[in-house]
Amino acid sequence: MSDSFPPSDRGRASRPLPKPGIMDIHAYVPGKAKAEGVENPIKLSANENILGSSEKAREAYAGAAGELHVYPDSRTTILRTAIAERYGLEPERLIFGCGSDEVFALLNQTFLEPGDNIVQGEFAFAAFAIGARACQAEVKIAREPDYRIDVDEVLKVVDDRTRLIFIANPGNPTGTWIPFSEVRRLHEALPPSVVLVLDGAYSEFVTDPSFNDGLEYARTAANVVVTHTFSKLHGLATLRVGWGYGPAEIIAAMDRIRLPFNTSIPAQRCAVAALADEDFQRRSLGLVEQWRPWFEQQLGGLGLDVVRPSAANFVLVGFPPTARRSAAEAEAYLSSKGLLVRQVANYGLPDHLRITFGLEEHNRAVIEALTDVLKP
Ligand SMILES: Cc1ncc(COP(=O)(O)O)c(C=O)c1O
Repeated sequence: MSDSFPPSDRGRASRPLPKPGIMDIHAYVPGKAKAEGVENPIKLSANENILGSSEKAREAYAGAAGELHVYPDSRTTILRTAIAERYGLEPERLIFGCGSDEVFALLNQTFLEPGDNIVQGEFAFAAFAIGARACQAEVKIAREPDYRIDVDEVLKVVDDRTRLIFIANPGNPTGTWIPFSEVRRLHEALPPSVVLVLDGAYSEFVTDPSFNDGLEYARTAANVVVTHTFSKLHGLATLRVGWGYGPAEIIAAMDRIRLPFNTSIPAQRCAVAALADEDFQRRSLGLVEQWRPWFEQQLGGLGLDVVRPSAANFVLVGFPPTARRSAAEAEAYLSSKGLLVRQVANYGLPDHLRITFGLEEHNRAVIEALTDVLKP
């Protein structure tokens, strides 16, 4: 039996058929975690926190061991209160998710009907589009000249079926960011029916004083949602905690379809502990600040095309035709040395690699291996 029924005729199929478009979605490809033949590879492929997580968060995790049989608080109250206090936000305008990935999924499910569309940059983080396609929506792509969001390109592709615009600022895998004046220009040019989503997964790593993640702006705008995660600066990726802040009506609508217990007791407690541990946050950011310019300079010195400046905890680097090896060959060589970096061909960047900053010895080992593999 073929899969080519018109949607309304799927009931005549001899087996259950996924709704149209599902099998055209490319499942998310996580960063590599294993290197063949190497026992404990260094994982610089998923933008995790190389320092691990806060000692206070680990204590909170251990402290939750006796409560694994208990359903968590479905309102995530302790974390809601802590975030509202820390950022000066209204608690009822926050929503929590199993990672910010779930917050994106909720936005897609809340706003998209079949035939609607989302708009995203050419090199956007993959989760936005997966969730949109699952809602049988289209994904419209705005060109990113110079590997950076261009507001005019975004506005060019917005049409009357656009319901959501996803902008990661800084972006992944590009690491680049746009100034707040551009975010505001985009917002002001949008129809009020479009939700502008500002994904701040890496915003804590931006050190330029003019950067603004949009939280303050979202307070008064009727159609802006800002998301954040505990997976990056706070090093709690495995616990899956992300959050969104937006207009009360949008958050209330998303809350209708949210799974009730989507942040676990350990996740809630560890996130509260991590949020309070400013020393750990400072050390994590300090490491990134220390190695970011070094990496850019070293990679540039090897004749590679660094996408700069990176404002995140990773750098995207291009292998030009003049390089002696392709990105794929370099990735394979690094992997053979136990250094896992990220191929980004699935982001339309077959000639680039994304490298998460590690500890000094990791960073030096990456540059040494690249020097080796690129030498004449
Ligand atoms: C740009 C961007 N946004 C959001 C996320 C999702 O983070 P999480 O679901 O772990 O909160 C990631 C993860 O890599 C990301 O790169």
